[in-house]
Amino acid sequence: MRTIQNDLLLRALRKEKVERPPVWMMRQAGRYLPDYIKLRDKYDFFTRVQTPELAAEITIQPVHQVGVDAAIIFSDILVIPQAMGLEVLMEEGKGPSLPNVIKTQKDIDALATDGIEEKLNYVSKALSLTKQELNGKVPLIGFAGAPFTILCYMVEGKGSKTWDKAKQFCFIQPELAHKLLQKITDATINYLKAQAKAGADVLQVFDSWSGCLSPEDFKFFAQPYLIQIADALKDTAPVILFPKGSWYALKELSSSSASALGLDWCISAGMARELTGNKITLQGNFDPAKLLLPVSEIKKAVSEMIEAFGVQGYIANLGHGITPDIPVEHAKAFVEAVKNYGN
Ligand code: CP3
Repeated sequence: MRTIQNDLLLRALRKEKVERPPVWMMRQAGRYLPDYIKLRDKYDFFTRVQTPELAAEITIQPVHQVGVDAAIIFSDILVIPQAMGLEVLMEEGKGPSLPNVIKTQKDIDALATDGIEEKLNYVSKALSLTKQELNGKVPLIGFAGAPFTILCYMVEGKGSKTWDKAKQFCFIQPELAHKLLQKITDATINYLKAQAKAGADVLQVFDSWSGCLSPEDFKFFAQPYLIQIADALKDTAPVILFPKGSWYALKELSSSSASALGLDWCISAGMARELTGNKITLQGNFDPAKLLLPVSEIKKAVSEMIEAFGVQGYIANLGHGITPDIPVEHAKAFVEAVKNYGN
């Protein structure tokens, strides 16, 4: 096995001592990078995702151009609904849509859970190729959407601010919802195992929309599946759970098999440490909108963030994905500020 030269992220996930926190940014491979835009103008979204050479190139761009301490494979959480048999469209400027939404038991029965590894073989190929090209420079992160977030897209058919249809489906037909969540969980576990086998050193599970649930509903519709996934992977690779908005679940999730918990900016470092009893590594939580501040202010805010979390058991990141309007220089300033902390 090739050793990783910059293993800060892996050490932080094991809660080993580090000289400084590792830093990467959610959605770091994307539209704020001019070289990504060039490829986007030439190839459509799923061509970029399904062509290992393109996915590897896009994955590595922020490592060279922004200096992050980890790469995250260029793909999407919606490849799982696709592999389970649902059509997914990605329209420029409009976001994803799924024309055939899940409504009935029959729709759920028709979803496939076998052959996921084969169907998503292009992701494995992209991971192996990226791993080879990174040549041990930094660790490689694989990922998947959490079952509740995937249910949101499968039922709603597109993005939503409130996810009313998805929640109504869960509340009115809880048995069907659990059947669907379990099917997604089974497929996701197979998929994440395949990603680790192909070279992913770390696995992140994005529960981007779990924060639309009340604490009780989160416990019923989101948490059990996050825990199943973390348990299933505990001997495979370190897992980062990111239940965005669900600060109320931090205490319970801190005793799961996960190695780290991701945070958005709606919780203070102090409260997050208190809720998790300093038992688990925390990741986050810079508000991406603050990346538009002047560089000097970004640096100051980053120092304050690290001061608040502490250097150990901490991964510097944003509280959600970087937006397309951020100048590359500002993304770099964020990363540099973490690297220069304390100097
Ligand atoms: O982090 C990375 O750099 C790796 C790549 C990555 C993408 N999607 C590429 C992408 C990751 C980790 C994702 C995860 C993802 N996809 C999530 C979870 C993270 C989050 O932001 O909450 C979600 C909810 C999706 C679903 C999705 N895919 C949406 C809502 C959209 C459109 C709106 C948007 O945020 O861009 C996408 C498209 C998408 N996925 C793009 C990229 C770079 C933009 C489309 C394009 O560049 O053509």
